[in-house]
Amino acid sequence: MKNTKLTIVYYSMTGTNFQLATWAKEAAEEAGAEVRMVKAQELADEESVKANPAWTAQKEREKDIKVASSDDLVWADAIIFSSPTRFGNVTAQIKNFIDGQGGIWSQGELVNKVVSAMSSAQNPHGGQEQTIQAIYTTMMHWGAIIVPPGYTDDSIYAAGGNPYGTSVTAGRDGMVEDVEAAVKHQAKRTVEIASLIKA
Ligand SMILES: Cc1cc2nc3c(=O)[nH]c(=O)nc-3n(C[C@H](O)[C@H](O)[C@H](O)COP(=O)(O)O)c2cc1C
Repeated sequence: MKNTKLTIVYYSMTGTNFQLATWAKEAAEEAGAEVRMVKAQELADEESVKANPAWTAQKEREKDIKVASSDDLVWADAIIFSSPTRFGNVTAQIKNFIDGQGGIWSQGELVNKVVSAMSSAQNPHGGQEQTIQAIYTTMMHWGAIIVPPGYTDDSIYAAGGNPYGTSVTAGRDGMVEDVEAAVKHQAKRTVEIASLIKA
């Protein structure tokens, strides 16, 4: 999988999607891919962030991570999005990033990107699947090649069995399901398919 390039675009307020993205990065690199892990631009004002200790801690954790740009998508053969659920949809930060890609979209730069998505929500049925599907709807407009995990590995059952993309319940005490292996499987599968298409 050498020469296969993966960009992981995430947004995380309290660390869950940051952790999912980090696991995806580790697995893709282990599989031989070159990886850029980038965050969606924050849109909330500083006061709101400061008022929330978990949010402030996440800002500190990700302070060295670059903000996602169009170049990160043009560069990539494969893209993994990771977004928390907001009222059954993606975060404004991820949507804002997606909506900033009209320029490269109109130049055909997003065609045939291999794409997969992950999500989290506070409740077990709080909208994780809807959030992933919302991302995939946009990916169809981009002419992307969507690579869902399906049930291609036992780790997916252990993670709660979401065939659209790995998702997790972000409870008060952290992640409820054990999703590390499913995230890693999804990331590896995404770069494997991307390398096949590239070849
Ligand atoms: C404005 C807002 C809307 C949310 N909407 C939902 C929702 O529809 N369903 C749900 O279960 N959790 C919802 N949540 C909880 C988040 O999805 C949860 O905190 C997030 O997945 C944790 O991811 P993170 O740690 O990466 O930020 C919402 C949180 C906020 C702030």
